[in-house]
Amino acid sequence: MTKLPDGFLWGGAVAAHQLEGGWQEGGKGVSLADVMTAGDANTPREITDGVLPGKNYPNHEAIDFYHHYKEDIKLFAEMGFKAFRTSIAWTRIFPNGDEALPNEEGLKFYDDVFAECKKYGIEPVITLAHFEMPWHLIKEYGGWRDRRLIDFYLRFAEVCFNRYKDVVKYWMTFNEIDNQADYNRKFSMATNSGLLFADDSTPAEREAAMYQASHYELVASAKAVRLGHAINPDFKIGSMINFTPQYPASSKPEDILMADKAMQKRSWWSDVQVNGEYPGYMKAYLRKTGYAPDITDADRAALAAGKVDYIGFSYYSSNTVTAKADNPDYNFDGESEQTANPHLPKSDWGWTIDPVGLRSSLNWLYERYRVPLMIVENGLGAYDKVEADGSIHDPYRIDYLRAHIEQMEKAVDEDGVDLVGYMPWGCIDLVSAGTGQMDKRYGFIYVDKNDAGEGTLARSRKDSFAWYKKVIATNGEDL
Ligand code: BG6
Repeated sequence: MTKLPDGFLWGGAVAAHQLEGGWQEGGKGVSLADVMTAGDANTPREITDGVLPGKNYPNHEAIDFYHHYKEDIKLFAEMGFKAFRTSIAWTRIFPNGDEALPNEEGLKFYDDVFAECKKYGIEPVITLAHFEMPWHLIKEYGGWRDRRLIDFYLRFAEVCFNRYKDVVKYWMTFNEIDNQADYNRKFSMATNSGLLFADDSTPAEREAAMYQASHYELVASAKAVRLGHAINPDFKIGSMINFTPQYPASSKPEDILMADKAMQKRSWWSDVQVNGEYPGYMKAYLRKTGYAPDITDADRAALAAGKVDYIGFSYYSSNTVTAKADNPDYNFDGESEQTANPHLPKSDWGWTIDPVGLRSSLNWLYERYRVPLMIVENGLGAYDKVEADGSIHDPYRIDYLRAHIEQMEKAVDEDGVDLVGYMPWGCIDLVSAGTGQMDKRYGFIYVDKNDAGEGTLARSRKDSFAWYKKVIATNGEDL
């Protein structure tokens, strides 16, 4: 008997805007990702006011999965994938987001992608909204500030649920909905909720807008769960959070309380999505701050009626926080309380590497929520070097993944966590969401394209490709 259950969903994860390209093909509209320029580890991506001449928009072509999906899915099948997580680009289905009728060509593209998966027995795991909302909804409605977005999103969800009801079973409503805990980061607010802020906006304005937008998203998510179950009772519809455990910097009670408060500030979205109601600590916080988002009785009923079936989450790293005298309310704003963890190494992009944190995270989530869990992102963004003979040796990636899989197996085997699958991020090299780079690579499959956009787009197998194939073949026994 292996440590992981039979039928465990080994696979890999991507998002439409980060690999498809074809930004103007098949009737697709302009998405937020289409107006995000390239940055790097030290330069943030710019969100321009529409597509401007002379700017570099890496998602426009990405790795051109739009034309390479057959070749790419064949490579996933060669590794033995049981599952493939991707998203449906909202703008392929509703180019502006507020149309009455969907775009048939966009729907057909995903028919073809899912049919290709099924050909190899690969289960599609689908995110509905992954940082790629229609630009038109941002410009005309101010993004998720506007309650009308709920209906636009539900129309999109309903069309997808109906169209793919016989080929897709696993769905997630919003990617990393909890990233908005970093409401001072312009990028998180734009990618999650389509909220753009003037440079002189205050933290309180940003935070208030975030609670309103998040509430509408949570209502939309709950209504989508209900709708999906009505369309196909076998659907499994999950939340998707960026689970980043917050450690206390010391055993000082104040540091421990700060870490608890930081966890709350990141966990309230999943509390609502799993339990169907706002947690007490968040009600108290909203009352105390006076933010008073528009929350109706009908919204509360919708939240209660649309609890998710499972939690999908990404896990990359942990944070460490410390209590500060100038923050007597232990108010976590995502950044100010963070401090370095001397026990953990960092990636080239400054992300801590903490495999044991994955085991604690799985325990924390399962104890708190008692619903099945699915790891839908994990991985190391790293520079790869192509040797003269075309081979790519990436032992650092194998080491990272091996260490995390070991901890994941302990959580299942020794701690009794109900874990459904493991889909490491960027199973094929793609455009980084955070920096827009190509050279921040996660893949088992190398794609010949660099940060400047040069390259043939040819695919090749890295050393980690054969390694992961063996891991899947042995259900995680041979690491
Ligand atoms: C997650 C996102 O936050 O992290 C992905 O869901 C993203 O879209 C991934 O690509 C890795 O982040 P980055 O910035 O290295 O691409």
